[in-house]
Amino acid sequence: MDLKTNKAHAMIAEENRHYAKSARINYFDLVIDHAHGAELVDVDGNKYIDLLASASAINVGHTHEKVVQAIQDQAAKLIHYTPAYFHHEPGQQLAKKLAEIAPGDSEKMVTFGNSGSDANDAIIKFARAYTGRSYVVSYMNSYHGSTYGSQTLSGCSLNMTRKIGPMLPNVVHVPFPDAYRTYPNETLHDVSVRYFDEFKRPFETYLPADETAVVLIEPIQGDGGIVKAPDEYLHWVYDFCQEHGILFAVDEVNQGLGRTGKMWSIDNFGIEPDLMSVGKSLASGMPLSAVIGKKEVMESLDAPAHLFTTSGNPVCCAASLATLQVIEDEHLVEKSATDGAYAKQAFKKMQERYAFIGDVRMYGLNGGIEIVMDKQSKTPDADAATKIIYRAFQKGLVIITLQGNILRFQPPLVITRDQLNEALQKLDDIFAELDQGLIELPDDLGNVGW
Ligand SMILES: Cc1ncc(COP(=O)(O)O)c(C=O)c1O
Repeated sequence: MDLKTNKAHAMIAEENRHYAKSARINYFDLVIDHAHGAELVDVDGNKYIDLLASASAINVGHTHEKVVQAIQDQAAKLIHYTPAYFHHEPGQQLAKKLAEIAPGDSEKMVTFGNSGSDANDAIIKFARAYTGRSYVVSYMNSYHGSTYGSQTLSGCSLNMTRKIGPMLPNVVHVPFPDAYRTYPNETLHDVSVRYFDEFKRPFETYLPADETAVVLIEPIQGDGGIVKAPDEYLHWVYDFCQEHGILFAVDEVNQGLGRTGKMWSIDNFGIEPDLMSVGKSLASGMPLSAVIGKKEVMESLDAPAHLFTTSGNPVCCAASLATLQVIEDEHLVEKSATDGAYAKQAFKKMQERYAFIGDVRMYGLNGGIEIVMDKQSKTPDADAATKIIYRAFQKGLVIITLQGNILRFQPPLVITRDQLNEALQKLDDIFAELDQGLIELPDDLGNVGW
């Protein structure tokens, strides 16, 4: 495919005069005009298969008819009235629905926000209020958002703390288990033991457990590289929290809503969290987030401790109700599991053929493909990964990297089998080109990725 990018280039050159660089990570000059399902069309008329789903925010696919209809109907009725003072039906229905579909049997309550970031801030507030304790534990390599609280919780980019400190006090980061880069002969059990020792170390040296409010974790890290915590490890952390009266909270913003082949990523572990944050695909990319928590925890704060004028917007809530209905009606959780297993098998076969595919991690339609110098050293090869995604863009695939060297494979869950096959075949062809040293990056590409 010959990419035409004249219009896009001109538009971006103009935009760059006004748009602050803190808010965009450089990949390619893609100006999206419209999209449907898993297909994007740019302003120059080029078509792409979307393997990113707007950073896992479009699980039911772009412009799904039912979501569009719900948005149009609600917008014609009531665009907004702040839930800070009064009530509207879409918000009432959505709070009930989310309380019902959250994991576990305990009674749940819900609060709304505008982004995954503010939902994670809310977790800090509710956990501190409920426990009367101040310390919060989160993970290295996590991404929890871009407000001060959620940015403090995160641990995946120096640019998220550089120049802007001091960050929120009393947040402690522990290492997330890495089952790929292990010591010789380590089993998954050994990895769990080693990282659980690391988890406990702060509590044994300077962090009083009885002053710790909450542990917040992405059970499967998204921006960390689609990395799943070992089952045993997560249960030990959960048990530790139970033993010490620490709340256990999960961030489902990236990995929730069917992405992992389960409704919630924590469903892969059979644990009921005390609090969870949801966003992104919740309203198919419309600005809506939610914190869902156990009733007694959610009752620990009084207004206006956590409210926003535009949170729980009725159009967003209507989009969310339609999105949840589509996930159910089109069996997208099951489809994510089946298609994910199919894609995993394809990538595993490619891994046998290409020395630079170090690890294939796939949980639902949700993959991290590690590009390395070689399988022995496992040294990350960001340059090769950039060549792959650049060539993919030229061939009509939108895919980006995580951590520089990991291919992020997160298509909309409605991707058709034909689109999936086409994407896998193109990636295979690109791997072959890379193997033969045929891919060159243009000199003016600049810094690509995080
Ligand atoms: C796991 C996770 N939590 C929170 C966020 C923040 O969500 P938002 O960008 O909507 O504030 C993200 C965004 O990438 C995320 O991946």
